[in-house]
Amino acid sequence: MSYGFKRLPFIILYICSLTSAHQHLWTSPEDVLIRPDATVNGIPFSTRVHWMRRANQALTELTTPCTFAPFASAIVNHTAPGLGDLVCIGVNSNSRTGNPTLHGEIAAINNCTAVLTDPSGPYKLSASQAQAAFAQLSLYTNAESCPMCASAIRWAGFREYIYGTSIDTLVREGWAQIRLPSLEIFRQSFDLPNPARLIGEVLTNETDPFFLWQFNPQNPCPVGCSRVGSSCRPS
Ligand SMILES: *[C@@H]1O[C@H](CO)[C@@H](O)[C@H](O)[C@H]1NC(C)=O
Ligand SMILES: *[C@@H]1O[C@H](CO)[C@@H](O)[C@H](O)[C@H]1NC(C)=O
Ligand SMILES: *[C@@H]1O[C@H](CO)[C@@H](O)[C@H](O)[C@H]1NC(C)=O
Ligand SMILES: [Zn+2]
Repeated sequence: MSYGFKRLPFIILYICSLTSAHQHLWTSPEDVLIRPDATVNGIPFSTRVHWMRRANQALTELTTPCTFAPFASAIVNHTAPGLGDLVCIGVNSNSRTGNPTLHGEIAAINNCTAVLTDPSGPYKLSASQAQAAFAQLSLYTNAESCPMCASAIRWAGFREYIYGTSIDTLVREGWAQIRLPSLEIFRQSFDLPNPARLIGEVLTNETDPFFLWQFNPQNPCPVGCSRVGSSCRPS
């Protein structure tokens, strides 16, 4: 008995912590994976399509759509009227720079920070203003973020995070992945401010083709690319 009573307060604390964590897990609206064609924050699907295509287009602009690791992002200010404003783009830059953390999303976040704080650029923000600005921004990525990038998106405090191809699809197609969906990262980040809305699998019919050829020679190359042995090259 005394054994049990000594531990009772800890057990109660433990149960309370589970209960409060559980409430966060299931009652906060921001941790819901929103269906791709939903209108969220007043922004219709057609606008999501526009910016997901812009993320894909970053490949053409910064590398090629035939690149082996075609992970690309576009960061958008939807507070601006109409379609919203593009703030910056980024693509996976691991092999270009030798920096293994420069996934497309991290490259874009770095780029946006540089763009927002550039004293001769359009924004001219201070460091603290730039940090705060992310709460207005939406990150579009043509593939679901790995746990590193999903965590960075939460630390940055983005308003929205929109992805195309899912981690499940990447894994099915042969990509090595850390198998933790963004939804789970978001659910576990309830201590952080500025909960982001998460919209998954937007325009997968146009994002998937970038990721289907690398490990499966039967699958065609993306538009604008053709097979040369095991790789896809600009055609
Ligand atoms: C986003 O757009 C709004 C409205 O145009 C503007 O006031 C705000 O400064 C912009 N923020 C960023 C980070 O571009
Ligand atoms: C950063 O984003 C800008 C604006 O979209 C783009 O012109 C530029 O090429 C990007 N730079 C890098 C390094 O990705
Ligand atoms: C992909 O699907 C969207 C609708 O979800 C459609 O508007 C678009 O034309 C499709 N793209 C292609 C290349 O078929
Ligand atoms: Zn990543």
